[in-house]
Amino acid sequence: LRRKDLLTCEHLPIETLVHFLGRSDHYFQLLNAPGPFKKLKLLEGRTIANLFFENSTRTKISFELAERRLGADTVMLSNSGSSLAKGESILDTVKVLEAMKLDAIVVRHSVSGVPEFLARHLPAHVRMINAGDGAHEHPTQALLDVAELRVALGDLKGKRIAIVGDIAHSRVARSNIWLLKKLGAEVVLAGPSTLMPRMASEVFGVEVCTEVETAISGADAVIALRIQLERQARGFFPSIEEYRERYGLTARSWKQNPPFILHPGPVNLGTELDFETAYCERSLILRQVKRGVAVRMAVLEWMFTDSI
Ligand code: CP
Repeated sequence: LRRKDLLTCEHLPIETLVHFLGRSDHYFQLLNAPGPFKKLKLLEGRTIANLFFENSTRTKISFELAERRLGADTVMLSNSGSSLAKGESILDTVKVLEAMKLDAIVVRHSVSGVPEFLARHLPAHVRMINAGDGAHEHPTQALLDVAELRVALGDLKGKRIAIVGDIAHSRVARSNIWLLKKLGAEVVLAGPSTLMPRMASEVFGVEVCTEVETAISGADAVIALRIQLERQARGFFPSIEEYRERYGLTARSWKQNPPFILHPGPVNLGTELDFETAYCERSLILRQVKRGVAVRMAVLEWMFTDSI
């Protein structure tokens, strides 16, 4: 049986990416049609475990909704309240769940590589989805970001997309870079040099700026990243006030025609974005959230069908 996991965007074939985008449009239409949504039967009889070992609102809820809307049974597990809090290893936990006949596991973890590690220890019929691992990748977030960018901008080939903020700690930035490049976009990164991975330009094949003004000049869209204070072992910038002044996106960031604004959430309002920018007419932030369920339905459908 072929393994069908979603662990990274880096290794996602372009044809699977295009398939996800097309199917997410299909589910987006279904979900947003007038009237109540009638549950589908595609995953009837399937059981999916959502293991969230790190806090989440958007990803956790949208996976659960996507699973239920496709007819699956779902279970949720986190550190607190499970035997992990009594010292059981994560691998043993997953083996216990597998013994209860699970079909797929969705994992969020603060350590990079955990979903891949678990996938290597599971039989091929148990699918694995990375819902965000450390500073490594967040594939379904980037899928929903590029899906919304395509709605706003059309074909992304040649479009200039700026990613601004804490690139070093951002799994969202990494997954977006890989997908945007596969779709032919021109990616430019900006942020404090202390929050920029070393040799980012060479490793990712993108433009790197230290000044936000240079990055956003002529950009079709800007993805602002959350300042992840919980991942910073030391101070990477002098103060929140200084960060907001130099790297925050505010009404005064645009001389004219603001680009589309994206943010994976949760937003630190008043730090990386001000209120006016987060909720301006060009902001796609709530559309990103709306797209999340449709994208996750597309990924789940792919895992349990014969599609590419
Ligand atoms: N974008 C994102 O992963 O948000 P949550 O942490 O709320 O899931």
